[in-house]
Amino acid sequence: MDNRPIGVFDSGLGGLTVVKELMKELPGESITYFGDTGRVPYGTRSKGIITKYATQDINFLISRNVKAIVVACGTVSSVALSFLREKFSLPIIGVVDATAKAAAAVTVNKKVGILGTSGTIASGAYERKLKELDEKIETVPRECPLFVPLVENGHINCIETYHIACNYLQPLKDKEVDTIILGCTHYPLLKEVIADIMGSDTKLVDSAAPTCGHVSRLLDEKDMRSGSGHAEYRYFVSDSADSFSKLGSVFLQKEITGSVSQIEIEQY
Ligand code: DGL
Repeated sequence: MDNRPIGVFDSGLGGLTVVKELMKELPGESITYFGDTGRVPYGTRSKGIITKYATQDINFLISRNVKAIVVACGTVSSVALSFLREKFSLPIIGVVDATAKAAAAVTVNKKVGILGTSGTIASGAYERKLKELDEKIETVPRECPLFVPLVENGHINCIETYHIACNYLQPLKDKEVDTIILGCTHYPLLKEVIADIMGSDTKLVDSAAPTCGHVSRLLDEKDMRSGSGHAEYRYFVSDSADSFSKLGSVFLQKEITGSVSQIEIEQY
């Protein structure tokens, strides 16, 4: 038994899509979230910078006494996970493996589209995992660099977002994929737009449920479940706490109830 919180981080608000699922499926677990809102986006940056930022994010969460880390960021999970696992001794869970497994399990025509940040797509992490799971799977990767700024600024159901999404999704339509991995934790906010363009038969697989399942199994394996019976939620950001609280509730689909504090992430 371990009553310490689970640490979760992302470049900004996107990781809250994973937090929402953790709250629902693991209601006894406390969560300490860090959103690097002062340095978002990560997805267009070099491997060196992404690794440096992620190292600081984890150092900060460790200073808050977390028992495990969920990297609720497709970019960091794709680009820096093995480095981070070697560097730190606590359990670190990324989003790629479990999400790819979920997609491989639902595709029927074995054509899977992968949407992600430039960093995620350039890393080839999702394609490698899918091929490892089933070499017959054909992948159609597509970087979507404008999605994160659109979502972070609340442009979710507007016509500009729809047009940009049409452009990003066209190659996936042309190849007739039956499954799409939303390979960035911001993208579930665009599910309706994507479903509208692709049609309701296309299966959209995001990281929240598969990653949550992975966390749950890990807590059992390591006998690390909380026994306290009540969960506390704390949020930390590297830019304004006010704007995080406002938009964060859209991601969580409920009010942010725990405290939100701004920290100096460069100190970690
Ligand atoms: N949510 C992050 C991801 O899953 C966003 C990346 C970014 O900040 O560009 O990749």
